[in-house]
Amino acid sequence: MSEWKSVATANDLDRALATHIANRLEQDITVHGCASLAVSGGSTPKEMFRLLSCARLDWSKVWVTLVDERWVDPSSDDSNERLVRENLLRENASSAHFVSLKSEHPDARQAVTEISENLAAVPAPFSMLVLGMGGDGHTASWFPGASNLDALLDRDNPDRVAASDPPEAPHQRMTLTLAAVMDSRDIAVHITGEKKKTVLTNATARGYPIAAVVDQQKTPVTIWWAP
Ligand code: 6PG
Repeated sequence: MSEWKSVATANDLDRALATHIANRLEQDITVHGCASLAVSGGSTPKEMFRLLSCARLDWSKVWVTLVDERWVDPSSDDSNERLVRENLLRENASSAHFVSLKSEHPDARQAVTEISENLAAVPAPFSMLVLGMGGDGHTASWFPGASNLDALLDRDNPDRVAASDPPEAPHQRMTLTLAAVMDSRDIAVHITGEKKKTVLTNATARGYPIAAVVDQQKTPVTIWWAP
């Protein structure tokens, strides 16, 4: 079962999680000579990214990638890569290595092999992986009703990335699979608000995709939450 870390305000949560991630990265740099961080997009992590970007560590030894990406141009307002480049890969973190989940292919399904090969440059397991969660209990781009959801959540799936077509959310996606997400030393679920707390609390009973992460025992998961 996952541990909850509840913090008084969203600002305090951003600061506490940014500090935790920085400590994890620094620990792996010390022990392994390098570190890796996989982050989710959406609106929640923006301020946490900005705080983390100022962490005083050797970012030249850190590889950053995405947990999932909307299949849009990196210049689009909807691009997670743009969110990361503008808010995380700045200040001290500007010297980090970034591995994109987007290619020039018109269809994400044509890009899976290339993206998977690109990800081989990211040190495994991830030092730290950060997930968000939608109000429907999705995380990464594992959306309820997606045609390939079973494969995305198959812990024995040998693929690290897959294309996914959300039934309702905009844009085709490229996403890490559950098997890839679990190949981490530390997973943080970063959520705010009472509604998401209720959704996550009910995730197992409702069979929401995020339950595949919070119910497993292999990789430590902490739920970082503020009202
Ligand atoms: C994405 C994210 C997705 C996100 C949740 C929560 O590409 O949208 O990776 O999984 O974490 O949808 O998004 P908010 O933080 O905007 O609520």
